[in-house]
Amino acid sequence: ADEPIVLGIETSCDETGVGIVRGHTLLADTIASSMDEHARFGGVVPEVASRAHLDAMAPTVDSALAKAGLKFSDIDAIAVTAGPGLAGALLVGVAAAKAYSVGLGVPLYGVNHLAAHVAVDQLEHGPLPEPCMALLVSGGHSSLLLVPDVTREVISLGSTVDDAAGEAFDKVARVLGLPFPGGPHIDRAAREGRGDAIPFPRGKVDDGTLDFSFSGLKTAVARYVEKQGDSVSVSDVAASFQEAVVDVLTRKALQACRAHGVEDLLIGGGVAANSRLRALAQERCDAAGVRLRVPRPGLCTDNGAMVAALGSNLVAAGAAPSLLDIPADSSMP
Ligand code: KG4
Ligand code: ZN
Repeated sequence: ADEPIVLGIETSCDETGVGIVRGHTLLADTIASSMDEHARFGGVVPEVASRAHLDAMAPTVDSALAKAGLKFSDIDAIAVTAGPGLAGALLVGVAAAKAYSVGLGVPLYGVNHLAAHVAVDQLEHGPLPEPCMALLVSGGHSSLLLVPDVTREVISLGSTVDDAAGEAFDKVARVLGLPFPGGPHIDRAAREGRGDAIPFPRGKVDDGTLDFSFSGLKTAVARYVEKQGDSVSVSDVAASFQEAVVDVLTRKALQACRAHGVEDLLIGGGVAANSRLRALAQERCDAAGVRLRVPRPGLCTDNGAMVAALGSNLVAAGAAPSLLDIPADSSMP
């Protein structure tokens, strides 16, 4: 195995992730999260996240190396999320990656966070079928991407015009008095409820675009809960809200596959952990003759392994390394 060993660094939001791969074999995936510090604010506080990254960076790199049984001198390349994400949070990872690159005398690769969410699937399911369609749904993004070649080109076909899907889960959870981040709590509550109990609106579902909108749904849920008062069924609201979100996500994803003649759909991002999304996506993909790939939950949420995976593609493709003056680009397309 003389495939290059790549260390990937991810700091676009609240997770300090460090992953190490050899080719597409995962050797270590270590994460420090500052979520506990944000929970009492009901959302990620950028300044708090940046400081936490700075504290966690070097120890997380050290523990990833220890877990992989490697020394610094074994690392052949460094990859880092250069954007999009929180500016201050990205800066910590990018600055650290530059320092490791210079210190070790190995090339640096700045990568796109969304492309990395797609590339990570190779660690679990092998080479990516290309072209494939990717539905990325998390607290920060909700996008449909056409992926002709994850190393070179990822094309955005549509994205949310307001809230991200995970953000809608988090806001609705708050309305229902469930803890932050709310996605897993809604998922659990929904199992006791009926998805067809309340006909919540499906934003933009028939508008012919591949964009999403979840803020109207969020408002409808808030109004409904307020009107019902104490007699509200949390499980029915959770199930009906969740059904509205995953109905739109899966319908648009398959619409995108049809429109572009693509037969493989990949779902990633934190919301890909949602049990109803996985079940409905599987059902609708089976009916449409589309193959579905969903990485295990630990690889769907933000992590360093996804950055290392994409870095590994770049090394293998002989891509030119990034220069040491690459910026952290918070609004990278
Ligand atoms: O990818 P991620 O860890 O971080 C970013 O936002 O980039 O995603 C976190 C989001 C949160 O909004 C969380 O509520 C949501 O993913 N989430 C879920 C579930 N697990 C996590 N949403 C719905 N169902 C779940 N089981
Ligand atoms: Zn993400």
